[in-house]
Amino acid sequence: MNRDEFPILNQELIYLDNSATTLKPKCVVDKMVDYYTQYTSNIHRGDYHNAIKTNKEYDKVRTIVKDFIHAKDEKEIVYTSGTTESLNMVAFGFFGQILKEADEVLITKAEHASNILPWLILQKNKKIKVSYIPLDENHELTVDNVLNSITSKTKVISIAHISNVIGDIRDIEAIGKICKENNIYLVVDAAQSVSHIPIDVKKANVSFLAFSAHKMVGPTGVGILYGKKALLDKMEPLKYGGGMNQGFESDSNYTLKEVPIKLEAGTPPIASVIGLGEAIRFIESIGVSKIHEHEYGLKQYLIKELEKIPNIVLYNKNSKSGIVTFNIRGVFSQDTSIYLNHYKIAIRAGNHCAKILKDDLNINNTCRLSIYLYNTKEEMDQVIKVLKNSKDIFKVVI
Ligand code: ALA
Repeated sequence: MNRDEFPILNQELIYLDNSATTLKPKCVVDKMVDYYTQYTSNIHRGDYHNAIKTNKEYDKVRTIVKDFIHAKDEKEIVYTSGTTESLNMVAFGFFGQILKEADEVLITKAEHASNILPWLILQKNKKIKVSYIPLDENHELTVDNVLNSITSKTKVISIAHISNVIGDIRDIEAIGKICKENNIYLVVDAAQSVSHIPIDVKKANVSFLAFSAHKMVGPTGVGILYGKKALLDKMEPLKYGGGMNQGFESDSNYTLKEVPIKLEAGTPPIASVIGLGEAIRFIESIGVSKIHEHEYGLKQYLIKELEKIPNIVLYNKNSKSGIVTFNIRGVFSQDTSIYLNHYKIAIRAGNHCAKILKDDLNINNTCRLSIYLYNTKEEMDQVIKVLKNSKDIFKVVI
């Protein structure tokens, strides 16, 4: 599927670290090079030809993003540096202002650091309570467990749409309904999902949604915070500076612009925003559902074959994304990834920034192989072959 569009694939490489970052198609790179070589200028500050073109290219990405996630209004789309900044803005710029002592935030132990640490900091500084929704026997989040975890103190549920190690797809529409019925804010970390499965923030009643361009064939350094307009209006900026203020005086009086500009201080990553627009155009030209079908199909094939290899321990056979988490029994996960690298197979090993998932998995480190649109059955066959042969290399320990 569209491999020719990815120049990096001209080298010998089986790239299976797509949950960390995806490869970039030429059209995204070209779009950014065009900005840098043909019309570089700042945004919203100049009246000359190139500045006007930059404004146009930059501003239209808001509409592209709005349509992609089915938001109501461009004003609900904030450009950030990535998922981490978006989630920090949600925790500190919004909930830090409104949560009171003993208010409860529900998360899971499978969340990535940026959806855990900000809440733990609020717990420390504002005495809110962070509780963990239990995962099921497959380390997945079920709607029933969400429902059973809610208390009268629950104010926020903050979860990944697809978790980054187990790769389970959370039913955010059902969870959104529960949140609506119980007057709870729903925060969704969509870093691993937005370019893999469709999302409709209105249908799912999402309060805030965060994602990064670099995990969706786009550039690094830019991401999105979606928020319902009424909520963003109440959000305090974490950064102050140029672009976002209406005016200020020497006596400390100041006024800020409306959202989303109020939340975007300083010169943004203009080229990256423009690249994100092209990335979404590229993804939509294939179709998110088709991408999911492709990667999940390859995952199912891989699991079926890996199950036949006696020394492979699989941790997420049932999850329905393109993530396969495993270990070679008795082998340190990083040794496995170094072994695979010898065959030009790129995966990630370690805790994948989901550092408390170990409480549920009973293991600190795993190998994670994450599939995306350009991966092929032939690549899976090569992985299977190399893992089958691993018993000869690791025979001393397994
Ligand atoms: N969240 C990224 C990952 O899962 C960095 O690898």
